[in-house]
Amino acid sequence: MGNVDMQFEFEEKSRIFAIHTQRSSYVFGINERDRLQHLYWGEPVTIDDCAPLLRGRSHSSFDAEVDMEAEEYSFWGGVNYDEPSLKVRMPDGVRDLLAGYVRHEIREEDGRQTLVIVLKDRVYPLEAHLLYRVIPEYDLIERSARIVNTGGDDIVLESVQSAAWSLPDLRDYRLTHVTGKWSGEFQLRRNVLSEGKKVLESRRGFTDSHANPWFAVDEGQATETDGRVWFGALAWSGNWKITAEKTVFNHVRVTGGINDFDSEWVLGAGESFDAPWFVGGYTAGGFGGMSRNLHQYQHAYVLPSSEPRKVLYNSWEATYFNVNAADQMALAERAARMGVELFVVDDGWFGQRNNDRAGLGDWYVNKEKFPNGLGELIGKVHKLGMEFGIWVEPEAVNPDSDLYRAHPDWVYHFETRPRTELRNQLLLNISKPEVKAYILQFMTELLQNHRIKFIKWDMNRTVTEPGMKDHPLHRQKELWIRHVRSLYEIWAELRRRFPHVEFETCAGGGARIDLGIFRYADQSWPSDNTDAFDRLSIQEGFSYTYAPRMMTCWVTESPTGMNKRNVSLKYRFHSAMMGTLGIGSNLNEWSDELIEQSGEFIRQYKAIRPLVQFGRQYRLADLQHKGVTAVQYVDEAGTDSAVFAFLHSQRLGEPLPRLRLQGLQADRAYAIEGLPGSWSGRALMNIGIELPLRGDFDSLLYRVTAVE
Ligand code: GLA
Repeated sequence: MGNVDMQFEFEEKSRIFAIHTQRSSYVFGINERDRLQHLYWGEPVTIDDCAPLLRGRSHSSFDAEVDMEAEEYSFWGGVNYDEPSLKVRMPDGVRDLLAGYVRHEIREEDGRQTLVIVLKDRVYPLEAHLLYRVIPEYDLIERSARIVNTGGDDIVLESVQSAAWSLPDLRDYRLTHVTGKWSGEFQLRRNVLSEGKKVLESRRGFTDSHANPWFAVDEGQATETDGRVWFGALAWSGNWKITAEKTVFNHVRVTGGINDFDSEWVLGAGESFDAPWFVGGYTAGGFGGMSRNLHQYQHAYVLPSSEPRKVLYNSWEATYFNVNAADQMALAERAARMGVELFVVDDGWFGQRNNDRAGLGDWYVNKEKFPNGLGELIGKVHKLGMEFGIWVEPEAVNPDSDLYRAHPDWVYHFETRPRTELRNQLLLNISKPEVKAYILQFMTELLQNHRIKFIKWDMNRTVTEPGMKDHPLHRQKELWIRHVRSLYEIWAELRRRFPHVEFETCAGGGARIDLGIFRYADQSWPSDNTDAFDRLSIQEGFSYTYAPRMMTCWVTESPTGMNKRNVSLKYRFHSAMMGTLGIGSNLNEWSDELIEQSGEFIRQYKAIRPLVQFGRQYRLADLQHKGVTAVQYVDEAGTDSAVFAFLHSQRLGEPLPRLRLQGLQADRAYAIEGLPGSWSGRALMNIGIELPLRGDFDSLLYRVTAVE
């Protein structure tokens, strides 16, 4: 086939495909049974190098086709017992798939060169199209699968995974992932895989804070700066599943996509089903290299806009549900004095929303709280030189609301079961056309009638009693997929209608953060926990996959409402300046002095914003290392840099680690703002700097700039 800059290669004779990025190769072939067999993923190689790998393997009649452990996309059928990529039920009840290669082509889809490999069942009218796209500069491959029913009867899809990633033969397979909970999201974990499966997943209807849809595997010794790492991140905001399976023959394959738990999709005559994209990558540059490739990819290929993120103020922790025009205007005045650019009113502005027990679903402005409408506040905010943003939670409803009283059947439920309330709310079936239309209409009115620049879109509960009234009985298990697809459609439509409006994804903190929602969301709220120290580990786990500018971080009160920890204003600002800076304190109670000092930190942030939001991020030290965390942000040229360092608590006589910087030019000289003298890049990166941190919860910010 025609090569596109040699990204895709196919050799007729050996029937082998190779996908090349700048620093990696990914190779698979068509075997004698016409099945696709994965051969290699890692440092650059040629098709010839891999040819000997394309062969059948058998151990005994109990392990008849060992080579199928490396099937590029695994069809459930025959003697295949590993995690399947595709499992279906044919119209006559047959549940065995026998699909082989029939053709391939490169075509443009969504403006991207896409390799499409078509596999077809030998008997039934079912095709699987495997889709591959290349991001050569960041050594990434995007994969998806499209399942097509070319016949006249329904075929039931029991499991459609996006991709299976086969890893090469390694001594150990260490899996890195995150776990978490409400207010404790993105906690890093590392485990060596043994034979069997490790399943990361969500069954709660959204992405979930208990896990996040990405993985990284290394040989057990990769560090931030060195070592080979294979990784992937899935673009799906509903029930998802990533299965890392190690066989008794030491083969590891990571399969991921929409969770097959309680899930089915009925594929009608002539219809097709697209699995979400799953991006995978290989780097020899350790976990830091992995993260930077993912971050740059998000900037260039995923996020809906490349505008710098604004310094925002959010009223939630200041006023909770007790929102009113006068207080918000007073807050706005103080926020503007500090240099805030976007003023966001959180929950409580609509319906009878005086607490979390009522009003959700009634999206009209509360006249008691805003007697002159929202316009008065918005006008004031604009006069103060800021943009205006507002909170919504369109997918949910309080039973105590006009909406629910009018449409009790719009929520997910089973007629014979109680409707479980979580935070006193139920969830709307947003794939029902009337519900979708209702949401689009009130959002359109809100955005048309007010000068709103920013929407914080929240979602504060998981799915229970997953029944859809009025939806065909044999299609009830489609709910999990339908909800997410409708959500994406609503966001896409809103972005089309209001291209100037920016969106933040929030779900009780960070329960809906993934590469799927980030095609529509400019930024995210990673956690309701705003304690500046707790945030360091949350932000570290976040940074493994997602770029700093996608992470909103607020400076709030000390002691924090949640864990009563006392930390300085400086420490709080430094912690929050490592992403998109926000303020969440009750400024009406802040002294002029505190406002002044905060204004100074906001000025500092604006000066380094291009580095934090668009530069390359290097994790220099993590908390496990003598209680010091440090993160550095560097411009593309390696001439300008911001370094944040935090000390948990000092121990007498125990020296702090020297901080070795990264990403600079070895032969350039650098100055550190506020310190006399200069240093060579070589010295900063190899010898490092001493950290003058003392006591408990100390922090610093260094600006390191090349000098002539
Ligand atoms: C969720 C969000 C918070 C806040 C509240 C409002 O918990 O994560 O930031 O918006 O809802 O009810």
